Amino acid sequence: MNKAFYITTPIYYATARPHLGHAFTTVTADVIARYHRQKKEKVFLLTGTDEHGAKVAACAAQEKVEPQAFVDTMAAEYQAIWKTLDIKYDNFIRTTLPEHIAAVQELLRRVEKSGDIYKADYEGLYCVGCEKFLTEKDLVEGKCPDHKTSPKPVKEKNYFFKLSRYTAEIAKKIKSGELEISPKERANEVLGILDAGLSDFSLSREKLSWGIPLELDTKQTVYVWVDALINYLSGIGFPDENYKKYWPADVQVIGAEISKFHAIFWPALLLSAGVALPKKLFVHGLFTVNGEKMSKSRGNIIDPRALIKRYGVDATRFLLLSQFSAERHGNVAADLFDKQYNDTLANGFGNLLARVTKMLSQYEVKPDASHIDPVIAASVKEKSDAYHAHLEKFQLFEALQTTIALCQRLNQYVEEKKPWAIKKAGDEKSLQQVLSTLATGTQTLFELLIPFMPTKSAEALKGLQDGQVIALFPRIT
Ligand code: MSP
Repeated sequence: MNKAFYITTPIYYATARPHLGHAFTTVTADVIARYHRQKKEKVFLLTGTDEHGAKVAACAAQEKVEPQAFVDTMAAEYQAIWKTLDIKYDNFIRTTLPEHIAAVQELLRRVEKSGDIYKADYEGLYCVGCEKFLTEKDLVEGKCPDHKTSPKPVKEKNYFFKLSRYTAEIAKKIKSGELEISPKERANEVLGILDAGLSDFSLSREKLSWGIPLELDTKQTVYVWVDALINYLSGIGFPDENYKKYWPADVQVIGAEISKFHAIFWPALLLSAGVALPKKLFVHGLFTVNGEKMSKSRGNIIDPRALIKRYGVDATRFLLLSQFSAERHGNVAADLFDKQYNDTLANGFGNLLARVTKMLSQYEVKPDASHIDPVIAASVKEKSDAYHAHLEKFQLFEALQTTIALCQRLNQYVEEKKPWAIKKAGDEKSLQQVLSTLATGTQTLFELLIPFMPTKSAEALKGLQDGQVIALFPRIT
C-alpha cells in the first residue's frame, strides 16, 4: 500500500475561540504538509476539535446552551479561522461525530481484550482546566500552577488502564528512536517521567455525562483524553483497514504541555490495542506573554484575527513562525510585530522583489540562468541546502532565517554591483549577468517561501516571470 505522509495537530478544546498559540501549531503543521506536497508526496493533514469533557460541559453551562450547540459554534470558529489562514487540511475531526465515537469504542474493545482494563475506586484532585488528576506535589499553594484554580476532590469508581504494563517498552522505543521524539530535550523529559514511575490511569469518569459512553459500563463515560487521542485514528477512518493508507503518522505536532499524553498514554493505548505507534512526535515550545502561558483562563490571549487584519494572511503566518525557535518556549513580542514586518517583509523580501523586477523591466533584460555569478550561485545553494535540512527536521524558524539571510545577501549584491552604474557605463554583458543572478536568486528565495507564504510567493514568482513590478508587502506606518 502506498502510504501517505500523515501529519496531525492536537485537536483543540472547543471551549473558546482559537488564539495565537493554536494558530502557531496549525500553521506549523500546514507548512510541513505543504513542503511535503511540494516534494510530490501524498499528504494527509488532520486537525479538529476536542468536544467532550468537564471543561466543555462547564463552558456550555456558563453560556446557558446545550453542549452540542456550544461545540458546533466553536468548531465552526476553528474551521473559519483555518480557512482564513489558508490551512489546507484534509479532514477536520470532531469528537462528537458518530464515526469518532465508533472508533473510540472499537479501540477500547481491543484494549479490554488485551486484559488491560480493571475497575477500582479512585480518590483524587481533578483539575478541570487540565482535564487531569493532579497530585499534591503538582500543586502550588494548593492550586494548579497552570490554571491558578483549586482542583476538585473527586471520589468515584473508575475503570483503569494498566499503563504500568507498557512503560518499560515505551522507554525502550523512545531510546532506540523507534518512537522518535524531537527535539531531544523533550524526549529526555519524557524519559525522566517514565523513570520516576507512573501509576495506571483512569480511562473513565463516573459522574460526567458529556462524553462517550463506556461500553463496558454505560453509566461511565470515556475519559476525555482517551477519547481525544483516538481522533488520530478516527480522523483517517479507523477501524476500516484503509486507515493504514495513512497510519502510522509520520509526525504528530504538539505543544510541550501535552507531551506526557502523547508520548506515554497514547503509545501505551496503541500497544495494548495492537496498533502501530506513530513514527515521530514533534514537540514545540509555548508562546508566553510576559512569561506566562497564553490561555483563556489567564486572559492574556492574542487573537490571530487582529494580526490578519493588520498584516494580511501570509505575513501573519510569517510573523507566527519567526518569533523564536520552536524548540524552546518564548515571549511573543507583539509590540515588535510592526518592526519585524517592515524590516523583514517590506524592506527585505518586498524591496528585493521590487528592485529586481523594476530593473529587469527598465533595462529590458531577459534573465538567463546559464550566466550567473558563481559566488552568488554558491551562496544561494548553500542557503537553500540549509533550508531543506531544517525543514526535514521541522525547524521552521531556522528555515526562515536562511531565507532572510539569502534575501540580505541578494540585497547586498545589488549594493555591491550597482546595476544602474553598469547600465550607465554601457556594459551590457555585465548587466545581463548581474540581473540574471538577481532574478535567479530571487526566484529561488520565493520558491523556498511557498510553504510559508503561499499566496505572496506565487504573486512574487508571477511578477518575476512576467517582468511586472509588484509591491508585495506595503510598509506599515
Ligand atoms: N484538547 C487538548 C489536546 C488533545 S489532542 C489529542 C488540548 N487542547 S488545547 O486547546 O488546549 O490546545 C493545546 C495545543 O494548542 C497545544 O499543545 C499547542 O499545540 C497549542 N497551544 C495552545 N496554547 C499555546 C501557546 N501558548 N503557545 C503555543 N502553542 C499553544 O490540549
